[in-house]
Parts: sequence; C-alpha cells; structure tokens
Amino acid sequence: MKVATQLFLLCTLCIFSAGGDSPPVFTAQPPSTFLAVEGHNSTLKWTYNFGNGSFRQLIFLRNFDILVDKIYNDVPPYATPAYVGRLLVNVTDTYASITFLGVKRTDSTDYALKIVSKKRQSADSLVEISVQFIPAVAIDGDQQQFVPVGNEILLTCRYNASPPASEVQWIKDGNVIATNGSLQISDSRVTIPHHNESQVQLSIINATTSQDAGNYTCLVINDVGNSSDTTSIFIKGVF
Ligand SMILES: *[C@@H]1O[C@H](CO)[C@@H](O)[C@H](O)[C@H]1NC(C)=O
Ligand SMILES: *[C@@H]1O[C@H](CO)[C@@H](O)[C@H](O)[C@H]1NC(C)=O
Ligand SMILES: *[C@@H]1O[C@H](CO)[C@@H](O)[C@H](O)[C@H]1NC(C)=O
Ligand SMILES: *[C@@H]1O[C@H](CO)[C@@H](O)[C@H](O)[C@H]1NC(C)=O
Ligand SMILES: *[C@@H]1O[C@H](CO)[C@@H](O)[C@H](O)[C@H]1NC(C)=O
Ligand SMILES: *[C@@H]1O[C@H](CO)[C@@H](O)[C@H](O)[C@H]1NC(C)=O
Ligand SMILES: *[C@@H]1O[C@H](CO)[C@@H](O)[C@H](O)[C@H]1NC(C)=O
Ligand SMILES: *[C@@H]1O[C@H](CO)[C@@H](O)[C@H](O)[C@H]1NC(C)=O
Repeated sequence: MKVATQLFLLCTLCIFSAGGDSPPVFTAQPPSTFLAVEGHNSTLKWTYNFGNGSFRQLIFLRNFDILVDKIYNDVPPYATPAYVGRLLVNVTDTYASITFLGVKRTDSTDYALKIVSKKRQSADSLVEISVQFIPAVAIDGDQQQFVPVGNEILLTCRYNASPPASEVQWIKDGNVIATNGSLQISDSRVTIPHHNESQVQLSIINATTSQDAGNYTCLVINDVGNSSDTTSIFIKGVF
C-alpha cells in the first residue's frame, strides 16, 4: 500500500527520539472504508490522546501527498493549494475533523491521518474514501433513430454506477418492458440479447410502425438515486 510506504519514510525521521512519553493513540477514527456521496459534504472525524506526551503535529495525506499540515503552535492549518476552499479543517489537541466540500469522484483513494507528539512518537489512521454516485446512463446512437419497417430495432444502454445498479429497466412510452434483463411482456419479437453490470440491450425484430414506434427509455437505479436516457424510434418505409 502506497500510504504505508509514505508513512514509513516519514517515520524514519521520527524514530530517533522516542522514549519517555507514551505514544499517541486514536480513540475514535473513521471506518477503514468511508462511503461518501458525490456532490455532498463529507466529514471525517478522529479523536486521540497523547497520554503523558503532547501534541506537536498533524498531517493528512492523500497517497503520497500532504494535503493538510498543522503544527502545535497557533498557526492555522496549512492546506495544499489545490485543496484550499475544498477542505474545512478543525484540529485540536484531542480532536480533528476534515470536511470535503462537494465530494468528487476523483476523491476516491487512500488517505492517512498522522499525529506526532513533541517527543516525535506518532500514530497513523488509514481511511479509504469511496465516492458513490447516481448512475450515468446513455443509449447508443442519436436521440431520434429511424428504422426501416420490417428490420430489427437494436438498442444498447450503457451505464456506470457506484454502488452498482440495483435495477435496470427498459420502458416504452411509460410501460416497463424489461427489468434486470428479464422481459415483462410476452412478444416473441422482443429479446434481451445481452445484459451485465455495465450494459443492457433490447432487440425487436420485424419492426412495425403501429407496435414499435415510440420512446424507449433505459432507467438505472442504485442506492444513491436513478437516471435515465431516452431514444425516440421512428419506423420508416413505403406505406
Ligand atoms: C509516560 O507513560 C509511559 C507508559 O504509558 C511510561 O513508560 C513513561 O515513563 C511515562 N513518562 C513520563 C515522563 O511520565
Ligand atoms: C457544504 O458546506 C458548505 C459550507 O459549510 C455549504 O455552504 C454548502 O451548502 C454545503 N453543501 C451541501 C451540499 O451540503
Ligand atoms: C473544532 O472542534 C471542537 C471539538 O469538537 C469544537 O469544540 C470547536 O467548536 C470546533 N471549531 C470549529 C471552528 O469548528
Ligand atoms: C433486480 O436485481 C436486484 C439485485 O441485483 C434486486 O435487488 C431487485 O429486486 C431486482 N428487481 C426486480 C424487479 O427483479
Ligand atoms: C419475422 O418476420 C419473418 C419474415 O417475415 C418471419 O418469418 C418470422 O416468423 C417473424 N418473426 C417473428 C418472431 O415474428
Ligand atoms: C458487459 O458486456 C460488454 C459487451 O460484451 C463488455 O464490453 C463489458 O466489459 C461488460 N461489462 C462488465 C462489467 O462485465
Ligand atoms: C415521445 O417523446 C416526444 C418528446 O418528448 C413526444 O413529443 C412524443 O409524444 C412521445 N411519443 C410517444 C409515443 O409518447
Ligand atoms: C428517481 O429519482 C427521483 C428523484 O431524483 C425520484 O423522485 C424517483 O422516485 C426515482 N425513481 C425511481 C424509479 O426510483
């Protein structure tokens, strides 16, 4: 793990002068995997005590990069420029909280909080932030598609969701025709040729205007929310 390597490197600096004081300990920390929701504010909280030692420094790292650095004196916490305005930081001798304002998908990775005593004893708390988001959904091709009468309508809906989709629907003009890859209607012309965690297809052969023209919607739901995409199918031919 990259964070562990980084902490090891930092710690070669602080190993020398240990002795006398008890090392700091965390008394509460975030879960090892912290679930955040895209666009929301998310707060990580720690409590700790330095026993008979005292607070010298706190560092918050993202992989190899120091995002926040707070020294014991009254200087306000330093935040690396890219994170100024993105993080709210509150550090005391016994408590730290770091709030991500408007969590982004790219915030998903490993973080570490390191606390160091005046005698350079330290403790680390590791947390992986996993950012969840509303499904992103798109049906291949144009929003209006023209299919020759008697031909096949083949629609492919692609989606990306975290956590993974709990339900995926094909809806035609407001009526659900398939859920989770199984058909909810009986029409021998309609099939789901392919369905997995990132896409679902819909095939209708022998297209006719009266039955098959209309709006086809792919609706994807996960624990965070839902979204959909719609394509209008027009059947063209000589009538
Ligand atoms: C601090 O506490 C540790 C054990 O927790 C003890 O070994 C050490 O002697 C104490 N140091 C002082 C300066 O009291
Ligand atoms: C996040 O926090 C900031 C500052 O406290 C606030 O202005 C904003 O409305 C919050 N955003 C959400 C989505 O709660
Ligand atoms: C920082 O956290 C402490 C402990 O929870 C709290 O008492 C204090 O009001 C907080 N300060 C700010 C600026 O949020
Ligand atoms: C779709 O599948 C999910 C699990 O993958 C399940 O929780 C849900 O109930 C299913 N929905 C229907 C309507 O079968
Ligand atoms: C599709 O049309 C062909 C040719 O007209 C016909 O042979 C076939 O049975 C039709 N299939 C279905 C499922 O309706
Ligand atoms: C779903 O199927 C498509 C087409 O076969 C494939 O490219 C894609 O990698 C699959 N996705 C998953 C998550 O298995
Ligand atoms: C399909 O959607 C379009 C645009 O929203 C709408 O004008 C049209 O009436 C819809 N067609 C059907 C069959 O519902
Ligand atoms: C989709 O999300 C909206 C809120 O954005 C909610 O009102 C609606 O009930 C949801 N639909 C389904 C099918 O979960």
